[in-house]
Amino acid sequence: MLRKLGSYLLKYKALLGSLILVMMIVAILSGFTIGMIIPVVSSIFGKSHASSGPWIFRWLINWIGKGDRMSGLFKLAVSLILIYGIKFPFSLLLCYLSDFLEQKVIEVIRVDMFRNLTNLSYRFHSMMKSGELLSKITNDTEKVRFALRRGVIDLSRNLFLLMVYLCLALWASWRLFLISLILAPITLGIIHFIGKKVRGRFTLLRKQRGFLNTLASEMLQGIKVIKSFGMEEYELDKFKDANKLYRKNYVKSYLLKGFLPASSEFLGSILAGAILVVGGILIYKGIITPDRFLVFLGSIILAQQPTRQMNLAYGDLQHGLASMESVREIIEADDFVKDDGKVNLISFSDAIRFKNVYFYYDHSKPILKNINLEIKRGETVALVGPSGAGKTTLVNLILRFADPTNGQIDIDGKDIREFSLKSLRSKIGIVTQDVILFNDSIRNNIQYGNPDAGEKALYESLKKSHLEDFVESLVEGLDTEIGERGERISGGEKQRIAIARAILKNPPILILDEATSSLDAEAERLVQDAMAELLKGRTAIVIAHRLSTVRNADRIIVIDKGEIVEEGSHKELFESGGLYARLYELQFKDEDYPRKG
Ligand SMILES: Nc1ncnc2c1ncn2[C@@H]1O[C@H](COP(=O)(O)OP(=O)(O)OP(=O)(O)O)[C@@H](O)[C@H]1O
Ligand SMILES: [Mg+2]
Repeated sequence: MLRKLGSYLLKYKALLGSLILVMMIVAILSGFTIGMIIPVVSSIFGKSHASSGPWIFRWLINWIGKGDRMSGLFKLAVSLILIYGIKFPFSLLLCYLSDFLEQKVIEVIRVDMFRNLTNLSYRFHSMMKSGELLSKITNDTEKVRFALRRGVIDLSRNLFLLMVYLCLALWASWRLFLISLILAPITLGIIHFIGKKVRGRFTLLRKQRGFLNTLASEMLQGIKVIKSFGMEEYELDKFKDANKLYRKNYVKSYLLKGFLPASSEFLGSILAGAILVVGGILIYKGIITPDRFLVFLGSIILAQQPTRQMNLAYGDLQHGLASMESVREIIEADDFVKDDGKVNLISFSDAIRFKNVYFYYDHSKPILKNINLEIKRGETVALVGPSGAGKTTLVNLILRFADPTNGQIDIDGKDIREFSLKSLRSKIGIVTQDVILFNDSIRNNIQYGNPDAGEKALYESLKKSHLEDFVESLVEGLDTEIGERGERISGGEKQRIAIARAILKNPPILILDEATSSLDAEAERLVQDAMAELLKGRTAIVIAHRLSTVRNADRIIVIDKGEIVEEGSHKELFESGGLYARLYELQFKDEDYPRKG
């Protein structure tokens, strides 16, 4: 997974290189600020108390040493300010480059996911839960971002800092360095152990918080059911219990968390004590000069911060890599409908033919079995059958949302796989069972299938779908925003917008999955009329839930358990007394009475 993340990072080699360079510069400048202890000791306590240090410090010591004490102090202050002054823009650059690289990589990952998701087959989408996919795009990329930031960028930055501090400490006194080397791992080990326990607790805490959210959202969504069953008290008790558990665990977890810095401070003091004693002895014996002792102390104290950060960053990295795995599942998923047809479907002139078509989701049971069906140009065919019979699956195959497992579908005598997907789909319009509208204006929703359509065609489609009066009644007319999933307009209006969209696209072949939701009589009439307009002059396959549609169809195909079981006109099928007649009793008959009356 790290490799995958790495491959994304490596797309920006120059950026990555500059970032590493700046990290190094900042780390070295940070080392410099500690090194300033040397000239400070030298100028305040005298040269004999300070070691010479690297050439730059020797030069500094000499420069500061010239003139009187006051001017020395002044020069010291100036050099300190100067070092920080140089460090300042680099620190800023470091922030900028880190953010830039991080966001660039995440942007590409997010877009890659989106791109692949739009290209993945309908079959892939029908098998994944859309909520799960959504969470991958939003939550998981956020976790990957965090891992990248903490586990890669911050980790490297702190690694450089740590290296500089450790080098300084080693230079200052290898003896003291050795002592820390023995004591530090013990201290770190203990801290790590407690840290692990804390993390475990917090994972549990997160889960419990998630459960609280679930309970609350379930309550809000199910409020009707809760009220109708009189379960208000029960739900409240459930929520109370979960809250109590969460509160108890929260307090315990935070106590343990608080224990971490307190204990590490205490353990650190043992290390400091040891260094103090040994360091003091080394100075008394004249083995090291005081400035070295101070440099050592400074770098060891400062080294703690990057060490701690690296430890945390490592944990975050592990955490984030799990999300990277989940992101990769999407980026590398390859359940595509192959788009290698070379022929452009320019016009539709003869017929759509299903030839021995079988379709399986998995190998256990066929969803469609040996479908042989011909739909002539200009015909309206109604598809009826019980729920789950395979009607939607059958029409999906024409659009190549999935390909038949066996057999083939021809249009005008050519296997539809020979056509380019784009040209095939441009000839087919679809109005789905549950109308899908976007959070946009009415205009953009209608123009979706044909963005280049002129104003005239747009108004024509409004008229045919009986939307004219509705749109005119709106203050903002066509530019009215319909809200998420069209929440601001009625069910019948939604259906008519979907119809207008299909009319504007003007495809020769039409697939209609009739909505099952019932509308009131007036709204129903408007939708029916709009539908009739849409069907005019087209070849249509209608998954029918309305009697009027079935009656107006040229032919009715009855599907049961993936097979065509009956075929004929309403009258024929009704009189033969088979499945259609039974379905009629169940599904369509109720509609019949008011119409007769
Ligand atoms: N992604 C999937 N994986 C496995 N089986 C599926 C999947 N999608 C649908 N099915 C199954 O395929 C069968 C046919 O479904 P289809 O949606 O075509 O039925 P339908 O006739 O359109 O039903 P309805 O009238 O309820 O819309 C059903 O048994 C369904 O459970
Ligand atoms: Mg269906």
